[in-house]
Amino acid sequence: MPPPKECRMPPSFVIANWKMYFTHTQSVAWMHQHQHELTVLLKETHHNILICPSYESIASLAHSAKTIPGLAIGAQDCSAHKEGPYTGQVSAQSLKELGATYVLAGHSETRHNFKNSNEITLHKMLEAFAYNLVPIVCIGEARDKYQAGTTLNVIEEQIRPVLEAYKLHNKEMMIAYEPIWAIGTAQVPDRDHLEKVYQYVHMKCARMGIERLPRLLYGGSVDELNVQALSKIAAIDGFVIGKASTDFQKFKKIVQSI
Ligand code: PGA
Repeated sequence: MPPPKECRMPPSFVIANWKMYFTHTQSVAWMHQHQHELTVLLKETHHNILICPSYESIASLAHSAKTIPGLAIGAQDCSAHKEGPYTGQVSAQSLKELGATYVLAGHSETRHNFKNSNEITLHKMLEAFAYNLVPIVCIGEARDKYQAGTTLNVIEEQIRPVLEAYKLHNKEMMIAYEPIWAIGTAQVPDRDHLEKVYQYVHMKCARMGIERLPRLLYGGSVDELNVQALSKIAAIDGFVIGKASTDFQKFKKIVQSI
């Protein structure tokens, strides 16, 4: 069966996942300080940038982003529920009201820290669809699975329900491959491993009759030194940058090198 047509758009999609590196004051100050340079960077590179700050800073940053073409603001997570007795959670609807347009679903840190299963991740994705947020579903294996050579089994479990929902709802979605062992470790998978994973996702889409491939991203220790080599991998259509995105000059170099 031929692989589905790739809908690669030349500009890349770069996500700054700020995790909990900044307080609200620091997030707003970052934006204020770099607003002009960010505008120029977006204009020069034609890439799209998505900043995912902590929940409390989404509204302020979304307000600033209105004046910067190519910049969007997203959330790092959302509840799998619409509303109700879910202390500490934030609904997709609230995120939309705050000005978020994207949301990460199933980041390995939320899967791990909040015991989020593939099923919960799927419900988060469906909540995102319901409120017209674009979900970025994160997948990736732990080190032991990588070492045992069972990465594709993990990926299969993670993406099957996600791709079924994607096919059914026909809404925009992205998939970010972020091996857990590569996050925050300065270790990046080699080209062969990455090509195998992305080919597998392509093949799954083809087998499921998905004609429009979701945008496929890579995340995990991306920095200004390795991004150029990663950009040469044709299947990778954007990046999720964690720690390195908090330092504007580093982030700028990464975006310029893509
Ligand atoms: P890192 O994080 O770039 O700090 O490794 C990436 C991520 O978790 O999204």
